[in-house]
Amino acid sequence: MQKLYDNSMEAMFFFNRQGKVLAMNPAAEQIVNEDVLQQLYQGKAQAICGVCRGYMSDTELRTCLACYFTSPESEEFSSFQVYLDTKDKGMVPYAATYHTIDRENGIYVFMLRDLTRQFKTQEKFYQNKMMKHVIEAQENERKRISRELHDSVAQELMSAVIDLRVLKYMTADEELLKKMKQTEASMTRLLDDIRNLAVELRPAALDDFGLEAAFRSHFKKINESYGFTIVFDSGLEQRRYSNELETVIYRIGQEAILNALKYAQVDMIHVSLQDNDNLLQLIVEDDGAGFNPGDAPTGTGLGLYGMQERAELVGGHVNIFSAAGRGTRIVVEIPVQPQPQEQ
Ligand SMILES: Nc1ncnc2c1ncn2[C@@H]1O[C@H](COP(=O)(O)OP(=O)(O)OP(=O)(O)O)[C@@H](O)[C@H]1O
Ligand SMILES: [Mg+2]
Repeated sequence: MQKLYDNSMEAMFFFNRQGKVLAMNPAAEQIVNEDVLQQLYQGKAQAICGVCRGYMSDTELRTCLACYFTSPESEEFSSFQVYLDTKDKGMVPYAATYHTIDRENGIYVFMLRDLTRQFKTQEKFYQNKMMKHVIEAQENERKRISRELHDSVAQELMSAVIDLRVLKYMTADEELLKKMKQTEASMTRLLDDIRNLAVELRPAALDDFGLEAAFRSHFKKINESYGFTIVFDSGLEQRRYSNELETVIYRIGQEAILNALKYAQVDMIHVSLQDNDNLLQLIVEDDGAGFNPGDAPTGTGLGLYGMQERAELVGGHVNIFSAAGRGTRIVVEIPVQPQPQEQ
């Protein structure tokens, strides 16, 4: 018992009915500073309020309303979460219990267990959950806008282009004809842009045919638009994964390739996509300008951060290997469930 009292990580304060501290274990003495300690030993239990920053209720994170200390006899046992401004570690959340151990002599024990670690884990858990929702909502919204652009805006524009073509045959006026041809050409360009935008927002190939097909079509477009060559080595063929996982890999790949396009100052990169031993691996590699990962980003710097966040959502990670003048290699690895054997 004595060892438990001396070595416990849990802080224990023993009070009498008058609020005088009868004893405190070493863990408790670590929490309060000398001044408060003196007052507690002199019987001023309220001195604890000097370090207390409130307890947690159903409606408030920190409140002093209906404090457990003001009515200690109302309950035999109470358990709650409380925040204390501690001597060494600043504000710390504790799981507290306050209970009577000797009703006759009016002796109470107040015990505190540090919850910092649990709070951090919980916070990270909720952050991940929120991030998952945000990314999911973003993807759904992209899908919706993409469908709208493709099915509605592009269709309307297409019918306007057809009307214009018909109109061309209804006039012999050279001047008017020239103007109409110019309008038709610019509307056709606009139609192409809208279709490309719809694909960029959410490639139908990703939902219909999977990662390899979606990447191939993306790379073809990049090559046509920028003359940029992407050497693609894929061992995936038509293998499919969950929608979430495919989206994560696709978006990370898109960002890594866009970065190479923007910053590497090369006209060719290598992309590899493999599934080895239930580990889905994407590598995007260039031998261009490179960068020192600690340096200030040229743009927002959110791209690399977003890659890591997305990968973590599906239990994976991203490793970035780069140095100024030595190229860049982005390796994404995500564990996947074993594929069911095809019959
Ligand atoms: N392949 C690359 N080659 C050279 N530098 C790179 C490469 N990829 C990233 N960088 C450097 O790393 C920085 C951070 O990249 P990141 O994608 O996080 O942000 P960004 O591209 O600048 O902004 P955003 O992605 O939001 O448009 C870039 O600004 C660039 O300086
Ligand atoms: Mg970027």
